[in-house]
Amino acid sequence: MAITFHYFRFYDKISLMNTSSLFKRIKKIIKIKLSCSIPNLRYLMKQNAHLPHAIGITIHKRAKIGKNCAIFQNVTIGAGKYNPVHDSHVPEIGNNVTLYANSIIIGGIKIGDNAIIGAGSVVLNDVPPNTTVAGNPAKIIK
Ligand SMILES: CC(C)(COP(=O)(O)OP(=O)(O)OC[C@H]1O[C@@H](n2cnc3c(N)ncnc32)[C@H](O)[C@@H]1OP(=O)(O)O)[C@@H](O)C(=O)NCCC(=O)NCCS
Repeated sequence: MAITFHYFRFYDKISLMNTSSLFKRIKKIIKIKLSCSIPNLRYLMKQNAHLPHAIGITIHKRAKIGKNCAIFQNVTIGAGKYNPVHDSHVPEIGNNVTLYANSIIIGGIKIGDNAIIGAGSVVLNDVPPNTTVAGNPAKIIK
């Protein structure tokens, strides 16, 4: 009951502000929050990341993401090994990188600017700038 009340109070406030773009933004954030594991969503939005299908995306809280990257559904950017005690190395993604559907980028690796990561790739090594990699383990294809 209390939750419903607060929800309507919140909804009213947003409606009164008459800012449909703000409302769309909030809806987008709620959708991403519900479907993905992105602890640092604010950072990702600041980096102007594009998430065309925000489903199942998992990004380590310490991973670095450059500007204007496209991150498709079910992409994982994470540590090489699960270690709840010690800090693990995590990826550093450059600017304008495209990470296609279901790709997995793990460990302390660097993905260069403008790189393209093919669908379903498992990336375990550095990717030079302006290259396309694909496969498991990912290899340069272009
Ligand atoms: C990586 C990608 C962008 C490359 O496209 P491209 O530059 O046109 O490359 P090509 O299709 O010419 O393929 C080049 C070679 O790489 C291989 N290859 C391409 N993508 C691959 C992939 N994801 N995994 C494994 N091998 C792949 C091709 O089989 C081809 O091999 P061959 O030379 O032995 O025949 C594309 O294949 C891809 O993965 N797109 C993802 C699309 C996606 O996620 N869509 C979801 C939208 S919701």
